Amino acid sequence: MERKWWQEAVGYEIYCKSFCDSDGDGLGDLRGVISKLPVLKELGITCIWFAPIYASPQADNGYDVADYESIEPAYGDLTVFKELLDTAHSMGIRVIMDMVLNHSSDEHRWFRESRKSKDNPYRNYYIWQPPKADGSEPNNWGGYFNEGNGSAWQYDEMAGEYYLHQYGIKMPDLNWEYRPLREDIYKMLNFWLDFGVDGFRLDVISRLKKMPGFPDSKKEPAKTDRNGFVIDRSMCTDVEGIHDILRELNERAFGREDCMTMGEGAGITSANALNYIAPERKELDCVYHFELASRTRPAICAADFRSVQKRWAEVWKKGGWSIQYLSNHDSRRQVSHHGEDGIYRTRSAKLLATLLHTSPGIPFIYQGEEIGMVDVRFDSIEDYNCCYTVGPYRALVENGYSPEDALAEVAVKSRDNARTPYQWDDSENAGFTKGKPWLKVNPRYREINLKKDLAAPDSIFRYYQKLIALRHLHPAVVEGELSFYLEDHPQILCYTRSCEAETLLVIANFGPTEAELSLPEKLSSCRAERILTNCPETAPNLESRTLLPWEAAVYRLEA
Ligand code: GLC
Repeated sequence: MERKWWQEAVGYEIYCKSFCDSDGDGLGDLRGVISKLPVLKELGITCIWFAPIYASPQADNGYDVADYESIEPAYGDLTVFKELLDTAHSMGIRVIMDMVLNHSSDEHRWFRESRKSKDNPYRNYYIWQPPKADGSEPNNWGGYFNEGNGSAWQYDEMAGEYYLHQYGIKMPDLNWEYRPLREDIYKMLNFWLDFGVDGFRLDVISRLKKMPGFPDSKKEPAKTDRNGFVIDRSMCTDVEGIHDILRELNERAFGREDCMTMGEGAGITSANALNYIAPERKELDCVYHFELASRTRPAICAADFRSVQKRWAEVWKKGGWSIQYLSNHDSRRQVSHHGEDGIYRTRSAKLLATLLHTSPGIPFIYQGEEIGMVDVRFDSIEDYNCCYTVGPYRALVENGYSPEDALAEVAVKSRDNARTPYQWDDSENAGFTKGKPWLKVNPRYREINLKKDLAAPDSIFRYYQKLIALRHLHPAVVEGELSFYLEDHPQILCYTRSCEAETLLVIANFGPTEAELSLPEKLSSCRAERILTNCPETAPNLESRTLLPWEAAVYRLEA
């Protein structure tokens, strides 16, 4: 079957605010991105995903959209965006937009109208409920950002009712039960497709449908829940009825030729993924799930990687594509979380990349990953911006934690780890801005920056180039069936990708110590050519031997 463009793609997420500032206001912008397209081309990526760049008061760095059809003025305007799109396309790079359909900003025109009165034509664009008899919130649902008193409902004086906001108070949920809202959304999606974008990354797409009747959650509160308000994902995630919404979205917009949709898959696992992404269902093209990567869980090990990839390979065999990633703007830096900072930073960053780029699915690189950027630790909560950091910090302090302990608890999981400005070079502010950066630069920018990586043939950037080239050269990377060997080994990952044309073998020592590789007969009897390694000092032939810490290699097997 002919492949779709996105099945062969190598993606790259740009968090515009932290990418490159062309005008010195401390915020990245579209002109900054245009100036860096050549280096992205050199890297080899073929698709950019833009985290939201629409006009927004920035309560959640753009995930609070005030106008879906215009560009945030600090980033540029539609003319500059068109120039960016045309330039990217002329270089063979597709561009997909982040589309936030679960909520808007409270500064969106629809919400301003909605508040005004019960008979305003926009009233039902949002989810309003009257207070309980005692004036309190309609139910005990907690908001993910833990703002205000912790509730997911906010009372609005003007409206005389509460509105639902699963995320920030300034991010009211849209009402997908209301036909006119849907029609406006379809118009807007088609506006972008007509404009020339190649598809959408769909923010929290599994949360559009809410539990009918808004019942109280029966879940026990967790330590970061406040005032009895419980964060209970099941109330609004993967709720029955979500697929009717997605099917209609597909009919009215996503199904257009060449449009790629990738859904952010909270609550979507290998068990239910096909309900969302099986091609015959005509809902979404692919999903990026949280089974492997989540900033709140411990680092993954070889066994985690193996079992998650095996489960998703089954989904993939049935036509359900997923994204391969370990970091994005919501996570920690992958080398800090799952690899090893210190003497093995470079080698472990390369190992993680090898695994992601040789597993079935579409690899998405998060800006800075290709130079091995690391987590940051700021001294004060004032230096943090992320809602998932500041909200829970306050909750812990209210619960008796000292400010130091509260900071220690939240900092390690902070999304700001991934959001510090891109480190271009070793000049002031890492070459990101000539002004004051909106979020502090990671102090390690003199050691870790792109300029340095471009100058070194064995850098992480240069390794990513080779890995990406493999996908473009070797069909097995895109379509090869996945089989694991040495399945009980606690540290070594050993797998093949085979298609009619060829078989590739990946061997990776996922850990900080040496490990004994004892190859199964089926592999040791093969002639093999090593086509990539992060330890060029080791013997190139395929044989049983001691692997170095974090060693990874790809071989082409000759039967
Ligand atoms: C998604 C985004 C995240 C945002 C949230 C609310 O999880 O990736 O950055 O805060 O949705 O829009």
